[in-house]
Amino acid sequence: MAENSSEGSLYPAGVGAVSKENLPGYHRGVAATVLIVDDEKNIQVTLARALSLEGYRTEAAGSGQEALEKLAALPVDLVLLDVKLPDVDGLSVLERALRTRPGLPVVVMSGHGSIETVRQAFKLGAFDYLEKPIGERERLLAAVRNGLALRDLRAENDELRRVAGPGEMLGSSPVMQRLRELVRRAAGSEGRVLVTGENGTGKELVARALHDGSRRRDGPFVKLNCAAVPAELIESELFGHERGAFTGAVAARRGKFELADGGTLFLDEVGDMPPAMQAKVLRVLQEGEFERVGGQVTLRTDARVIAATNKDLLAEVSAGRFREDLYYRLAVVLVPAPPLRDRREDLPELCARFLAEACERNGRRPMSFTREALLALQAHDWPGNVRELRNVVERIAILADGPGLGAAEVTAALPGTRAPRTDRLREGAGFHELVEEAEREIVLAALTAHQDNVSDTARALGLERSHLYKKMRALGIKRGE
Ligand SMILES: Nc1ncnc2c1ncn2[C@@H]1O[C@H](COP(=O)(O)OP(=O)(O)OP(=O)(O)O)[C@@H](O)[C@H]1O
Ligand SMILES: [Mg+2]
Repeated sequence: MAENSSEGSLYPAGVGAVSKENLPGYHRGVAATVLIVDDEKNIQVTLARALSLEGYRTEAAGSGQEALEKLAALPVDLVLLDVKLPDVDGLSVLERALRTRPGLPVVVMSGHGSIETVRQAFKLGAFDYLEKPIGERERLLAAVRNGLALRDLRAENDELRRVAGPGEMLGSSPVMQRLRELVRRAAGSEGRVLVTGENGTGKELVARALHDGSRRRDGPFVKLNCAAVPAELIESELFGHERGAFTGAVAARRGKFELADGGTLFLDEVGDMPPAMQAKVLRVLQEGEFERVGGQVTLRTDARVIAATNKDLLAEVSAGRFREDLYYRLAVVLVPAPPLRDRREDLPELCARFLAEACERNGRRPMSFTREALLALQAHDWPGNVRELRNVVERIAILADGPGLGAAEVTAALPGTRAPRTDRLREGAGFHELVEEAEREIVLAALTAHQDNVSDTARALGLERSHLYKKMRALGIKRGE
C-alpha cells in the first residue's frame, strides 16, 4: 500500500487504511511543509510528531542561522518560530524571513509574559502566536491550518488578479463615469440588476462591482453560465441534490442558489437560458424557496440575482424565446455596459495598463505606445470591445521589439486592418468634395443592391427614408423616385 512506503513511519500502526490525502496536512495531494524553529530538541520532536500525525511534512532548525538557511533551501509553507533563540533574536529572523518570502505564514512561539515581543512580532507580520509551553494540540493544529489557509487565499487572489486582470473598471470618460455612478446606485439597493452589452464590454466586471459595492460584499459571489448547463443537470445545478437522487449522485451537493445564500448569484448569458430552466428560476425568484433534487426539505435562499446578456432580451421576449414574466423579475434595474467605440478617450489609459500587465506576464521589458500608435488604436472599431483590446495589446507585447511602439506595430497586430486608402485622394479636390464623392458611390451601390427601392435602401443603410431622399437630392441622384 502506498501509505506504508517512504512516509509510512509518520503514521502510527492502524491508520494505513485512511487515505493520507484526506489528512489536513495534505493540500491538493501534496503535503505542506512546516519548519519548526526551536533550540530545544524535545520541543522540536513533540511538535513534529503532532504535525506528522496530521499529514504535514516537518523540518527542524535549532538556531536562527539554520532557520534562514533552511528557508532558503527548502519549499517551506509555514514556520513555527520560537522568538528566543541562542544565536540571533527571533524577531530579526522573522523580519528577514518575511523580507525574502512575503506572505509566508509565521506562527511565533513565546514564553508566558512576553506580551511586548508578541506585539512586535505581529507588527512585523507574524500570522499568529502560541504561548509556550504548548499544551493544547488543537490550538497548535488550528494555528497551522489557519496559516496555510490564509496563504492559499492570498495565492488564489494573486492568481485571480493575474488571470482576470485587476478586476477594476478602468476608464474616466464621461460614459464610464455615468456607468460607475449607475453601478454605485444599483449596488446600494437590493434590486435585481440586468447588465446588458456587447461581447467583451465588461459585463462580468460590472456584476462584480455591483457585488463588491453592496452590503453583501463579504458574502459569496457565485456565477452560473446559463448557456452551458446540460439539460439533464439544470435542476441539480440550480438547487443541488441529495445523495442517491439519481444515477451518479454519489454525494449530496449544494446548488447555486444555496451556495449564493447571503451573497450574489450571477446568472451569466441569461438570454441563452433554456425554457425549462426559465420556469425553474422564475419559481425561485417568485417564492424564494426550493427543494434539492430528491430532497424533502424546503430551503429558503437569500441570494441577490444579477443577470447579464449580450442579447436584446426584449426582442427575445417578443420572439417568444424568453419568458416575459422572468424578464420583468430580472430587469428591475438595467445597467448597460457601453461599447468601447463609444468611449475611445479611455483607450490610452486602458492600453497603458494592459501593456504593462502583458509585458510583465510575458517576461518582457516594459514598453510604451507612441502617440501615433494610440491614434491607430483609437481609429479601430473594436467589435470585440475591451476583451479584443486586451488580446491585441497582449499580441503586441509578445511580438514587438519595443520599447517604443509605433503605428506599424499596432497595424500589424490589428485583425484585418488595411493601410489607409490613398486612391480617393485627388490633386486639387478638397475634403468636402471627396466626402461627397464617397457618399454618392455608397448611395448608388446601395440602391443598386436593392433594385432602386428607396425604403429597402434606407433600412439597409440605417437611415430614415426621408433623410435618404434628402441626401439623394443633395447629391443629385434621381434613381428610385
Ligand atoms: N472598464 C474596464 N476596465 C478594465 N478592464 C475591463 C473593462 N471592461 C472589461 N475589461 C476586461 O475585458 C475583459 C472582458 O470583460 P468581461 O468578461 O467582464 O466582459 P463581458 O461583457 O462579460 O464579455 P462576454 O459578453 O464576452 O461574456 C476582461 O478581461 C475584463 O477584465
Ligand atoms: Mg461575460
